[in-house]
Amino acid sequence: MGLALGLLYDRVRWEEKVLVAAARSRDIPLKILDAKNLILRVDADVEKSEETFGQVVLQRCVSHVRGLHLTAFLEADGIEVINPFRVSEACSNKFFTTLALEKAGVPTPRTSISFDGDSALRACNDLGFPVVLKPVIGSWGRLVTRLRDEESARDILGVWQQTNDSYSQIYYIQEMVKRPPRDIRAIVNGDRIIAAVYRNSSPGEWRTNVARGATTSPYSMTSEFEEIVHKAADAVGGGVLGVDVMESENGFLVNEINTTVEFRGASSATTVDIPGAILDYALTKLKK
Ligand SMILES: Nc1ncnc2c1ncn2[C@@H]1O[C@H](COP(=O)(O)OP(=O)(O)O)[C@@H](O)[C@H]1O
Ligand SMILES: [Mg+2]
Repeated sequence: MGLALGLLYDRVRWEEKVLVAAARSRDIPLKILDAKNLILRVDADVEKSEETFGQVVLQRCVSHVRGLHLTAFLEADGIEVINPFRVSEACSNKFFTTLALEKAGVPTPRTSISFDGDSALRACNDLGFPVVLKPVIGSWGRLVTRLRDEESARDILGVWQQTNDSYSQIYYIQEMVKRPPRDIRAIVNGDRIIAAVYRNSSPGEWRTNVARGATTSPYSMTSEFEEIVHKAADAVGGGVLGVDVMESENGFLVNEINTTVEFRGASSATTVDIPGAILDYALTKLKK
């Protein structure tokens, strides 16, 4: 059986298309698999798993939960996943990321979690308004909400309390960082930062997600920035990552780390071949 790379997806975004194109241009045998079609037999033998998935898998599911379970399965069969389970786990949940960053001494916004609306309201007062409320698992800025004062916090926390999903009963609350209407996304590949771009929020939108219309522009990295990004990536175990950094009044703060990083916006603001670099990184694992 020859060497092959797996690409696991659940939705074909621009990123998955350019990754496939980059693999084809490098003549890398690619096994492209839709997670939604899989039935994973835990008693399947390892050889069979390698035949289906390849020896190294790029895990690109939009659903964090799906990606995490698939990664657990693949690693149990000895297949190397980009990114590994422990890295995906640390990044999938914003609270776990915050803990990892704090532990590693990486500057990050002041944050607390509570498990009840009343405690959450006290947490907001402790941090001092305005604050930001977020789901611990989420992306594209969905449900990332500003709580400007106690009155609006009561209203919004009251709505969250009515939701039945157990994850919504985790109130992840953060100081609202004073920053320019932009942040900086660094794309990390192992021990290299392959690209870094500003994400400038669109008019009338405070969040800097490209999915919310943010535009990107080139950013020239300083050594301070590089140091903080490497430290942040190491804090969650490294790999192919999107490290998002805010420019606060007191210096850089790492907001979050994305484990199945989107790089369409970054690609349009740099000449770096990001999918090519990710594929090259995967190849080094494949040929090990
Ligand atoms: N504490 C904060 N202070 C200021 N802006 C924030 C804060 N938290 C999030 N944001 C803004 O909201 C956006 C979305 O929040 P984020 O934590 O990255 O969640 P998501 O995973 O949905 O992208 C960020 O990119 C940033 O622009
Ligand atoms: Mg984000």
